[in-house]
Amino acid sequence: DAQKQDYKARIKQLLIDHNAVLVAHYYTDPEIQVLAEETGGCVSDSLEMARFGRDHPAKTLIVAGVKFMGETAKILSPEKTILMPTLEATCSLDIGCPIEQFSEFCDAHPDHTVVVYANTSAAVKARADWVVTSSIALEIVEHLDAEGKKIIWGPDRHLGSYIAKQTGAEMLMWQGDCIVHDEFKSKALLELKKLYPDAAVLVHPESPASVVEMADAVGSTSQLIKAAQTMDNQTFIVATDRGIFYKMQQAAPGKTLIEAPTGGNGATCKSCAHCPWMAMNGLQAIEASLSDTDKADHEIFVDDELRLKALIPLTRMLDFAK
Ligand code: 13P
Ligand code: SF4
Repeated sequence: DAQKQDYKARIKQLLIDHNAVLVAHYYTDPEIQVLAEETGGCVSDSLEMARFGRDHPAKTLIVAGVKFMGETAKILSPEKTILMPTLEATCSLDIGCPIEQFSEFCDAHPDHTVVVYANTSAAVKARADWVVTSSIALEIVEHLDAEGKKIIWGPDRHLGSYIAKQTGAEMLMWQGDCIVHDEFKSKALLELKKLYPDAAVLVHPESPASVVEMADAVGSTSQLIKAAQTMDNQTFIVATDRGIFYKMQQAAPGKTLIEAPTGGNGATCKSCAHCPWMAMNGLQAIEASLSDTDKADHEIFVDDELRLKALIPLTRMLDFAK
């Protein structure tokens, strides 16, 4: 509508005025993804967001995602101003892994290599030997396992057990989960599959093991989009945040995409396939991040000592991913 067009026009001008670029995750609302595409920004998974932000020449990055993505951008590019539409946009994995307890867990097993998911605070990254995202986690753990390393894994227990199963690596697991993916239900998925017998099931590995076991393809957001594009099936049942449908449909035009069930039998769920924190990245919030004189509500800062420590495992991941 007219008001949205207004916001979009103002944001486009503000991006130019501030020498800024929009870096958006696939889970943000489609209008945000469109805006990022139209303005030369990026729409991607968390690994690519980190890379794009680091390598882009803009002075300012607007990170439309959740806080750990903004912090990662700041750790990689301290010279850039990193703004977020709202600093309230967090992640249940980050919340569920406070540094004090996680550090104690690590201290109790000093002979273990600490591997943490990118969905963590800068402090947790600073305590880690490796940072991974879901698109590279399997390869990195395989590599560490081949070197005979014992692993502390945090915080996503579902992704962790998927990787342990795939690699056979010895992993001590932190018990966190993603409130969005944890809601997918295998029984209801089985019922849905009966209705669409030719559909392939695409699953993000933050989902429970019972759902991952039913998958035809398991992977990060970008890997799932690729699967929808390259697999021969015409119909896909997709177990991840519904924000992904915009790019997935673009990549697989003409194919039918169906949301995997979160409730089943009328049960309610906390998030119902859309991350409440990703949803905070609206047009109004993006405009505010660029035009507010009080940047305190938007700007990401990371303590210098933490930043330098967290940079080591993050760089390790990016170098490995090359
Ligand atoms: P990826 O985009 O790296 O698959 O991460 C998923 C996620 O949950 C980000 O919030
Ligand atoms: Fe965190 Fe899950 Fe939201 Fe991703 S979808 S930001 S893992 S709560």
